[in-house]
Amino acid sequence: MDIRDAVVLVTGSNRGLGRALVEAFREAGAGKVYAAARHPASVDVPGAIPVALDVTSADSIHAAARECADVNVVVNNAGISRSGVLLATDGEARAREELETNLFGAWRVASAFAPMLAGNGGGALVNVLSVLSWISLPGTSTYCVSKAAAWSMTNGLRHELAGQGTLVIGVHIGLMDTDMTAGVDVPKIAPQDVAAQIVQAVAQGHNEVLADETSRRVKASLSSQQAAYLAPAGG
Ligand SMILES: NC(=O)c1ccc[n+]([C@@H]2O[C@H](COP(=O)([O-])OP(=O)(O)OC[C@H]3O[C@@H](n4cnc5c(N)ncnc54)[C@H](OP(=O)(O)O)[C@@H]3O)[C@@H](O)[C@H]2O)c1
Repeated sequence: MDIRDAVVLVTGSNRGLGRALVEAFREAGAGKVYAAARHPASVDVPGAIPVALDVTSADSIHAAARECADVNVVVNNAGISRSGVLLATDGEARAREELETNLFGAWRVASAFAPMLAGNGGGALVNVLSVLSWISLPGTSTYCVSKAAAWSMTNGLRHELAGQGTLVIGVHIGLMDTDMTAGVDVPKIAPQDVAAQIVQAVAQGHNEVLADETSRRVKASLSSQQAAYLAPAGG
């Protein structure tokens, strides 16, 4: 797709990767960029069009879809991490919160915007996933469940949207330097770097972004006897 023809909507666009995506699509010359956020007043990228959208609310999503009927690129970026552990007493509650946003939120957005994408030539749906779609990280295993489920949903949408010509792009990232990982003091990829790779994937019609070395290494290991997901904690 010629990015100048893109009319883009990014969820969770007031900070982190979402904000970087709005900037990157603007800088690449996109025709229009809708910056969707729970609190649209918190959107601060010049030239972007703020839109109210809470991915946990079907009413909010459908109102946004009516407001942005000319959209041809939808980016499911909004996400949360609750650092839940599967067997902890609050593990299920934390998992349900994460699934509500990271899986069902993105699912609802895809469902509500699919007719707009179809009507506008097919376009592209981008789902921001994680390297944790493939491996479980001790201390945040409920988030990993949500991202694994979101990866499977992404693959299902590839089938269901193929007929209308919608490109579905899955984005896998290791650690990225945003509020979500503020407490983790290790090297992280910049959200601007990931955003640039996503814009390029939309422009070039690629269906997957492996944004960093961690994502590339873990994906490559999946077919190995030493597959990373088989390793016990600390092993
Ligand atoms: N950071 C990483 O290392 C990393 C790695 C792999 C994947 N990811 C994924 O990358 C995406 C962006 O994360 P980030 O790192 O930029 O995190 P972030 O800085 O914490 O930003 C999260 C964004 O999601 C929004 N959001 C949360 N719940 C929402 C809801 N119900 N409706 C609409 N928006 C909602 C937040 O809005 P508010 O300001 O209103 O809370 C915020 O704009 C997420 O899908 C995340 O899972 C992150």
